[in-house]
Amino acid sequence: MKVLVIGSGGREHVITYKLSLSPRISKLYCAPGNGGIESIAECVPIKATEIDRIVAFAKSEVIDLVFVAPEDPLALGLVDRLREAQIRVFGPTAAAALIEASKAYSKDLMKRYNIPTARYEIFDSESKALDYLVSQPMPIVIKADGLALGKGVIIAQTLEEAQEAVHSMFSEKKFGQAGDVVVIEECLIGPELTILAFSDGQTALPMVSSRDHKRALDNDLGKNTGGMGAITPGADLSDEEEAFIKEKIIDATIQALKKEGRPFEGVIYFGLMLTSEGPKVIEYNARFGDPEAQAILPRLRNDLLDIVDACIDHRLNEVELAFNPGASCCVVMASGGYPDSYETGYEISGIADCGCLVFQAGTKLVSGSPVTNGGRVLCVYAESDKLDDAIDRAYEGVRKIHFTNAHYRNDIGRTGK
Ligand code: AMP
Ligand code: GLY
Repeated sequence: MKVLVIGSGGREHVITYKLSLSPRISKLYCAPGNGGIESIAECVPIKATEIDRIVAFAKSEVIDLVFVAPEDPLALGLVDRLREAQIRVFGPTAAAALIEASKAYSKDLMKRYNIPTARYEIFDSESKALDYLVSQPMPIVIKADGLALGKGVIIAQTLEEAQEAVHSMFSEKKFGQAGDVVVIEECLIGPELTILAFSDGQTALPMVSSRDHKRALDNDLGKNTGGMGAITPGADLSDEEEAFIKEKIIDATIQALKKEGRPFEGVIYFGLMLTSEGPKVIEYNARFGDPEAQAILPRLRNDLLDIVDACIDHRLNEVELAFNPGASCCVVMASGGYPDSYETGYEISGIADCGCLVFQAGTKLVSGSPVTNGGRVLCVYAESDKLDDAIDRAYEGVRKIHFTNAHYRNDIGRTGK
């Protein structure tokens, strides 16, 4: 089989890596890929958002399956376009991916189907939003409706900060069109947890839980990033909590989307907060998280292609997921300065001998050697029976990898519980 993976980050590297272990795949492509993916797939210089070119390439190369990993092409309807062209594809349609592309849509869906989430109001005008804020307790959370690379959420501690956030979204267009509609919601308190599930539109199979570390600096300080590291499992859930999440959140969402005529086929992401009132949904994503995928997929024992096939053919009920026991940790090494401006083009040494699986993100090959080429550069993975040991092993690997101005957090898995 010929398989094409869409995307260029660490998430796409681990997806391509898992697919490369499948005996049924004869040829792997990735568009556009990165310096790490090049060693296991043929990288094609087409951007993930170049929908027409991807469809044309899949047709001309007679690709048997396309795996769409990032949110932008999903929101742009790449899955719909490939289906129209009779090409087999894994990922949600644009209609189903709206649960990520519009926070206003996802909040209303949760309200209509009684899925636990923070109380909220939706605004399309600055003056109404400002009026509302005056009567609200602080802190409060202000969210741009659309896709904003995980940066469109502001937690305002004071009324002034909240007013500034609303102003920056409506008048200063800080997040462009993504901020034309703004969600203002109650600030929840508690540890965060990510649950990813495969779904065929009817059945959902949750994977091991995980926990991302979104802030740039140790002790959860600094700016929000795409994610600086992740662990599995993300929490020690009681049986009751696990059952609640499966029934009232995961299954309830999959059934809600089915009823809405937007059946969700792909990987669905539940960003949860474990509050004193029980687990609540902070956000949905319509795809694997990055770096959650890098922490989860190496533990998956199944052939990823078998699961993907079962999702597309609506027989996920026949599949049983199996994971290596224990725990895992992945630590992101970033370019100094990320998530603000940073320099690229620095040589990276030590990857091959670091003793860990390394998933590359912002890298490219120059004369066959990897150099930095993005904000999040790579992700170092280790697993073990015990989480503490997995964390130690990942950091042993990190210390063997070098590039100028490398930045990483020292407390992945040891903070934010
Ligand atoms: P999101 O992009 O919606 O996941 O939000 C980014 C981050 O903002 C989350 O991971 C949380 O840490 C935080 N956040 C979002 N919504 C809330 C909320 N209602 N209460 C507290 N924190 C939140
Ligand atoms: N790590 C968070 C995300 O992928 O959205």
